[in-house]
Amino acid sequence: MDAMFTLRGGALQVEDVPLQAIAERFGTPTYVYSKAALGGAFRAFESAFADALSRVPGRADGAPQPLVCYAVKANPNLAILNLFARMGSGFDIVSAGELARVVAAGGDPGRVVFSGVGKSTAELEAALLAGILCFNIESVPELHRLEQVAARLGRIAPVSIRVNPDVNPKTHPYITTGLNENKFGVGHEGALALYRAARDCRHLRITGIDCHIGSQITEIEPYADALERILELVDRLAAEGIELDHVDLGGGLGIRYSEESPPSVTEYAAAITRVFGNRRQRLVFEPGRLFVGNAGLLLTRVEYLKPGPVKNFAIVDAAMNDLMRPALYEAYHEVLPVVPRAGATTWYDVVGPVCESGDWLARNRPLAIAEGDLLAIASAGAYGMSMSSNYNTRPRAAEVIVDGDCMHEVRARERIEQLFEGESLLP
Ligand code: LLP
Repeated sequence: MDAMFTLRGGALQVEDVPLQAIAERFGTPTYVYSKAALGGAFRAFESAFADALSRVPGRADGAPQPLVCYAVKANPNLAILNLFARMGSGFDIVSAGELARVVAAGGDPGRVVFSGVGKSTAELEAALLAGILCFNIESVPELHRLEQVAARLGRIAPVSIRVNPDVNPKTHPYITTGLNENKFGVGHEGALALYRAARDCRHLRITGIDCHIGSQITEIEPYADALERILELVDRLAAEGIELDHVDLGGGLGIRYSEESPPSVTEYAAAITRVFGNRRQRLVFEPGRLFVGNAGLLLTRVEYLKPGPVKNFAIVDAAMNDLMRPALYEAYHEVLPVVPRAGATTWYDVVGPVCESGDWLARNRPLAIAEGDLLAIASAGAYGMSMSSNYNTRPRAAEVIVDGDCMHEVRARERIEQLFEGESLLP
């Protein structure tokens, strides 16, 4: 977890607020984020690149600083988007819904890149009218659909082609995206053909190139390899008279959940800059998890302790519908008692109330706990709330951002009536 989460006076706290106070005021389960951790992660990324690029020999003085487009899907809470927008962030979106969130949060559509393999006509229209920075195009039919939409609206659509550099990022197979077998992007030859086709479209303007090789990547080589392959293409395109304004390397840099040792942003920036050199294009990045993952946790309360013949279960009030990463990827999240107890530990599986054997948050953890205790499920700021659901008709959790000694409820806990508001009975 970020350094903003500390054990003080025998209890876990976020910045200057004890987690017990949050549970008391807002109940559980609740997602809790630190404003300083969110802002700190964003600033660290920006300054690592500013620093690395300033050392590149021959780099022009006025050369553009990278554009950071936070990947909204990692955590789309309006308060979080607004915080990043105020720091000058752009946004990587994958739906009209995410675009609407960015706009509602005061984000600048002119700093939005639109990724995704299945953008609908309505989504292309909405983004074009909003004036986004570019569409990351992933297929020939998508390119043609965008040309038609732009022609109909009398606009010029800025496009970048998402290239699949076919490097193995060595992460979980469900979150690998840059291999030829994945549904994302197009291969090198396909990309050349797409750029040539785009050049011939009257309502498209080629602005860049992009790739995204996967998520929770803990090594640097896949990035350097991917960038090298992308730059080969940039040069081939230039030889054909197609000049690009930006090179977007996507997101995916991993964080520490337990024993991983992902590259630091300084190492990442140094490696990218080494390969990129003093090219004139603007670098674009789409980090998600890196900014929010370790800036948030899921606060939950132990309902029951249930000893069993083979396993002991700590049944808590959060479940797979709140945090589905363990069920989906067997992901590891550290479990921290909010008020650690002295004494013997017992091995527990930490599970939720949902009616699925896959409903677990942590397995085989030595814990000294009692019913009623609060637990923090660590590193849950990314893809926690954003992938939550109402399975088992469970209202989604509240979200709280701590700023110093203030707690701000930035999303109220859902009420049960809300969950079936849009439903109706047959006549
Ligand atoms: N750009 C594109 C085009 C993406 O598809 C993604 C994530 C990102 C950026 C941001 O990646 P990040 O920096 O957050 O790794 N639900 C999974 C992760 C899925 C990532 C999907 N794409 C998880 O909980 O680990």
